Amino acid sequence: MQRVLVAGSGGGIGEALVHGLRQAGYSVFTLSRTGTPSSEHCVADLSSAAAVNSIRTFLASVQPDVVFCCAGVLHDGQHGPEKNVGSISDDWLLHSMRVNVLPHVHLAQALAPLLNRSASVKWISLSAMVGSISDNRLGGWYSYRMSKAALNMFIRNLAIEWERKAPASVVVAQHPGTTDSALSQPFQAGIADGRLYTVAQTASRLIAVMQALSPQQHGKLLHWDGSVIPF
Ligand SMILES: NC(=O)c1ccc[n+]([C@@H]2O[C@H](COP(=O)([O-])OP(=O)(O)OC[C@H]3O[C@@H](n4cnc5c(N)ncnc54)[C@H](OP(=O)(O)O)[C@@H]3O)[C@@H](O)[C@H]2O)c1
Repeated sequence: MQRVLVAGSGGGIGEALVHGLRQAGYSVFTLSRTGTPSSEHCVADLSSAAAVNSIRTFLASVQPDVVFCCAGVLHDGQHGPEKNVGSISDDWLLHSMRVNVLPHVHLAQALAPLLNRSASVKWISLSAMVGSISDNRLGGWYSYRMSKAALNMFIRNLAIEWERKAPASVVVAQHPGTTDSALSQPFQAGIADGRLYTVAQTASRLIAVMQALSPQQHGKLLHWDGSVIPF
């Protein structure tokens, strides 16, 4: 049975992924800032480098075939997407980097020493289409766009590095589609009919794309249907 790690399992999409994967018969392991630690659940703050060693110990026992990293942030009580350059605050931009980039970096740092040339891992980092520089025609959302663009570059680099380290592995960033979760909740008013998906719909699409991941998709930013979004 394939072993799947869902990191960020406390979020809307993460939780639905866990449910969908279990229903599909996968052996599922989880990582979140919340919950009770067990052999199947690691409690750690992925945005902190101090967590890397304990996450590595957990991963060494899990030996995942598939990793989904769901961590990300778009808004909190005080901050949200900026409409103009004057609204960018250093603190929020740095926090966006901390939550949209560092968890993916730290999780990869935890897994990297466990990989060898015979490893065959599918790695899916949830990113966002708005992190595509070539797709940006509307502007705005500075901190989210910049931090997701940085995540996309990280994934591109990681794919190149792991091509040598574990050649059978596939590393991608993926846009999950606009999904009804806490992250999108304040911004759902302007979404066209039929373009806001339930977490269950999104999870089942992410699982389908994961199952069909091919070496041609390695190092790419994928849409929720598996097609390639140019960086
Ligand atoms: N919903 C959408 O429409 C949409 C669209 C495009 C892209 N995405 C991306 O999809 C991913 C999942 O989003 P979601 O809709 O499920 O959002 P969500 O419900 O708000 O979940 C947020 C996720 O980020 C983690 N997280 C939040 N703050 C963190 C912090 N300070 N330190 C470490 N981890 C933190 C949470 O992990 P814990 O388990 O530790 O709580 C959780 O996995 C995100 O990367 C998001 O950018 C979502």
